[in-house]
Amino acid sequence: MPVTNPQLADKHLNARVNALLAKMTLEEKIGQLVQYSAGVPTGPATDRQNYATMIAAGEVGSLLNVGDAKTANMYQKIAVEQSRLHIPLIYGLDVIHGDRTVFPVPLGLAASFDPAMVKETARMAATEASADGVRWTFSPMVDIARDARWGRVVEGAGEDPYLGSAMARAYVHGYQGDRLSDPTSIAACVKHFAAYGAVTAGREYNAVDMSDVMLRQVYLPPYQAAIDAGAVTVMSSFNSLNGVPATADPYTLTQILRNEWGFQGFVVSDYHAVYELIDHGIALDSATAGQKAISAGLDMDMEGNVYHMRLAALVRDGQVPEATIDEAVRRILRVKFALGLFEHPYADDKAPAYVATPEKRALARQAAEESLVLLQNQAHLGQPKLLPIRPQVHTIALLGPFGDAQGEMLGSWSGKGNPADVVTLRTALEARMKATGGKVLYAQGTEILTQSETGFAAAIDAAKQSDLVLLTLGEDGPTMTGEAASRAHLGLPGNQEKLLEAVVATGKPVVLIVFSGRPLVLDWAAQHVSAIVEAWFPGIEAGPALTNILFGDVNPSGKLPVSFPYAMGQEPLYLSQLPTGRPAGDANLSHPPRNAAEKYLSRYIDVPNAPLFPFGHGLSYTEFNYAPVTLSAQQVSVAQLQGNAPALEASTDVRNAGAVAGTEVVQLYLRIRGASMEEPVRQLEGFQRVTLAPGETKHVTFSLGFPEMSFINAQSQRVVEPGTEYTVYIGGSSQATQSAQFNIVK
Ligand code: NOJ
Repeated sequence: MPVTNPQLADKHLNARVNALLAKMTLEEKIGQLVQYSAGVPTGPATDRQNYATMIAAGEVGSLLNVGDAKTANMYQKIAVEQSRLHIPLIYGLDVIHGDRTVFPVPLGLAASFDPAMVKETARMAATEASADGVRWTFSPMVDIARDARWGRVVEGAGEDPYLGSAMARAYVHGYQGDRLSDPTSIAACVKHFAAYGAVTAGREYNAVDMSDVMLRQVYLPPYQAAIDAGAVTVMSSFNSLNGVPATADPYTLTQILRNEWGFQGFVVSDYHAVYELIDHGIALDSATAGQKAISAGLDMDMEGNVYHMRLAALVRDGQVPEATIDEAVRRILRVKFALGLFEHPYADDKAPAYVATPEKRALARQAAEESLVLLQNQAHLGQPKLLPIRPQVHTIALLGPFGDAQGEMLGSWSGKGNPADVVTLRTALEARMKATGGKVLYAQGTEILTQSETGFAAAIDAAKQSDLVLLTLGEDGPTMTGEAASRAHLGLPGNQEKLLEAVVATGKPVVLIVFSGRPLVLDWAAQHVSAIVEAWFPGIEAGPALTNILFGDVNPSGKLPVSFPYAMGQEPLYLSQLPTGRPAGDANLSHPPRNAAEKYLSRYIDVPNAPLFPFGHGLSYTEFNYAPVTLSAQQVSVAQLQGNAPALEASTDVRNAGAVAGTEVVQLYLRIRGASMEEPVRQLEGFQRVTLAPGETKHVTFSLGFPEMSFINAQSQRVVEPGTEYTVYIGGSSQATQSAQFNIVK
């Protein structure tokens, strides 16, 4: 059922759009479809004049990568005062996980399972970005990512469509606020449409080939959730989908996005992607590339220099109807009007310089604390669990390349983030230990990517003198994660694993803190290190958040939004796999092994099928007990599932059985059997963050209806089918053991 966006469907707004359109020449219309990256003249010199001249002539509708109010106002003044129709520019920028106040990378934010908090981070980012004249962010990135080799796993919410959809909505609501016309609101851009996360072999910019069922069941829901939440722009992806480059794909850009979902905003290409249709091999020249893109439903050409140079001739030659151009212009003008750009084209360029105020730091710290995932926490040589750090620990050795690296804490796509704003773990730890009369021995040990062992001796020496080692290892945020950062080896880079082995060999208790933008292979570490924390890239409050978690001032609550493999060869590795006729039993708890000794089962002969750390996993300093699952009914009829209203309640009691307060992410998974299609062995269909005092019990209820129970059938329709059996699992990870069943009947 297509949904209309009230802010874009507004009658008065559309009347203004049409009135303006009626005054525009063909060249001025095309100008609205043209976007350039300010200061990056990559095209042939003859095609690329100076921006000021082009803007004055009405040949440019948008600029990206202008990040300061003065420059934004300078170009905007030309557009508003010198161009014939005074149409303001819209400025786009990659504001991905914070603007100046940098929060954890999106994968880390997803680990919080806390959309309300994520919305707050997006709102703060919007306020900061809009102050610089940026009223449009190229975020959220909602590509489902199930292959850890792909570097862009870091930019999204991980492997799961339900979690991904919740995060997508949170970002859109945060960026766009209650009203787009609020000067502190910025337009969201859902990207990369579509199915970019499924690039073959995890290799960046590669092709995607998948069934329509898979596309609609797994990959499309987060984009649609963002559109339903009101997102007014979409970015097409670099990949091809089933042989058609997404930048020129009428199936995704027109059939699905416009006809099925009712999207009324505009689609921008990814960087230079219209021109790259030539490299994709579907166009022999740029004119054909432009003709294919605009005809498919691609409204704005980012940096491709194709629409600008070729569209007018295509219209004059009758190869592109002017009505197609008009429609694209309408979509763009709608967003410009909705943002109030005509009323407020300028940013305040006299505003005071950025300060990371206590309020900003508090949100950044909360976000970082909630993003940290305690992967493992075992007793060390007969002593209690290593974490939280006990008061008896007097001397801590802080080792590794991330302990005092401000820039590293910002991760990839940190935009205007300033390393100077970052409080490192070393700074926070030293302050804390000093206050209690303890000591920190700091040694970097090695660099992120080197084979030199010159720093090893100092690190080992520090470890030997300490009561506890905090070892910080991982991948380089800017170069090893994000765009164009596919990796075929998922271990710790350089000689970090060697340093890990050397430090473990001292016999000292070791807490490993991993900084990464993707699941890494941590098999050796998991066998030899007692405690492991996944820190992602935590943002400006990295140090205080980590110390709060390590010392137990804050109880960890993060859960994995991606599965961590034993070995790289398991990739793509994810929870919601389809069943096989020969289940080996260890991929998840839904399949008991038929016979462990049997050879002809779906499994590797050298590694388990299961992940080392599964989706939804994350430990706490307390223990949560789950009572059996109860259902409000054993049967639900198809008639009850008309519309989206809840038809069944699944509930359980969750008890904090430990001695400290804690927050649990209570997760609900479904398995459907007996349908016309194979359905995943488990899929997430609900989660709630629940805070419990020691000894406290809370009754947690989930409502399930058509959205949760339906699936895509072979005709690409979302359906429920009578005669199906549903198993509901509720627990603290995807390995939840409490379950109950119900059936769908006629
Ligand atoms: C290319 C990236 O794929 C996209 O995510 C980003 O928004 C654009 N460049 C603009 O910087």
